[in-house]
Amino acid sequence: MGRLDGKVAIVTGAARGQGAAEARRFAGEGARVVLADVLDDVKAVADELGDHGYAVTLDVTDEAAWARVVEEVVGTFGRVDVLVNNAAIYRFGTPLVDLTLDAYRQVVEVNQIGVFLGMRAVAPGMTRGGGGSIVNISSLAGLSGQPGAVAYVASKFAVRGMTKVAALELGPAGIRVNSIHPGVIDTPMIAGVVERFPVRHIPAQRVGVPDDVAEVALFLASDESSFCSGAEFVVDGGHSAGLGLPL
Ligand SMILES: NC(=O)c1ccc[n+]([C@@H]2O[C@H](COP(=O)([O-])OP(=O)(O)OC[C@H]3O[C@@H](n4cnc5c(N)ncnc54)[C@H](O)[C@@H]3O)[C@@H](O)[C@H]2O)c1
Repeated sequence: MGRLDGKVAIVTGAARGQGAAEARRFAGEGARVVLADVLDDVKAVADELGDHGYAVTLDVTDEAAWARVVEEVVGTFGRVDVLVNNAAIYRFGTPLVDLTLDAYRQVVEVNQIGVFLGMRAVAPGMTRGGGGSIVNISSLAGLSGQPGAVAYVASKFAVRGMTKVAALELGPAGIRVNSIHPGVIDTPMIAGVVERFPVRHIPAQRVGVPDDVAEVALFLASDESSFCSGAEFVVDGGHSAGLGLPL
């Protein structure tokens, strides 16, 4: 008996990193998983999952593409029970005063508009189906600032806020909406940086792995979290618990 038996889940950004881990974990618990990404690699990850994996090409910033994908998923599997809005891009190292408007907009387009479009695309079908669970991947950068990453931080604070509005509006339809706030997680997104991260600042004394986040996403996708909505789930090994300064 799987924890997601009979459920249909869409995971965006599932070609690699945390999205791929979530897709694998969900499929292992019985879900039919739609793996959505701009990268062709998503097909290989879906193939690994056999009957439980189904790849689609989706740019989360494309409103019409969202409509097509949701129609295709409902046409193929009959319903959508879970959406994990995981796709994002990370840009850092440019101070606010030097950042171009185009560069700012590019990050907000994927990380913020993409999440808005995703929630809006699945909500009507979930409502007709009697409910569902939406999991929005924010960040520690959605809880506190980070120099050199104004657009990323803005987009992740927005995801945190949108999650609460969606939880309030969609709750009566049986749709739960929560945000996950990962800390430093070893994925291609931060390749070249993660290897040098001073883990002594993290109480767990290690960086995270994609499965650390996938496990929490699984809980939120499943009926085990049926009374959780509008909430923030931090997955950071204790990194954000305090200042971490020695006495
Ligand atoms: N890795 C970390 O340390 C960390 C920390 C906090 C939050 N996060 C968040 O976790 C989530 C997953 O990140 P990850 O670390 O696995 O990153 P990743 O870069 O390894 O994977 C992101 C995936 O999103 C896809 N993607 C990017 N733009 C897209 C678009 N427009 N449409 C569809 N797919 C698109 C990429 O192709 C990639 O497959 C992101 O929301 C990220 O912001 C990551």
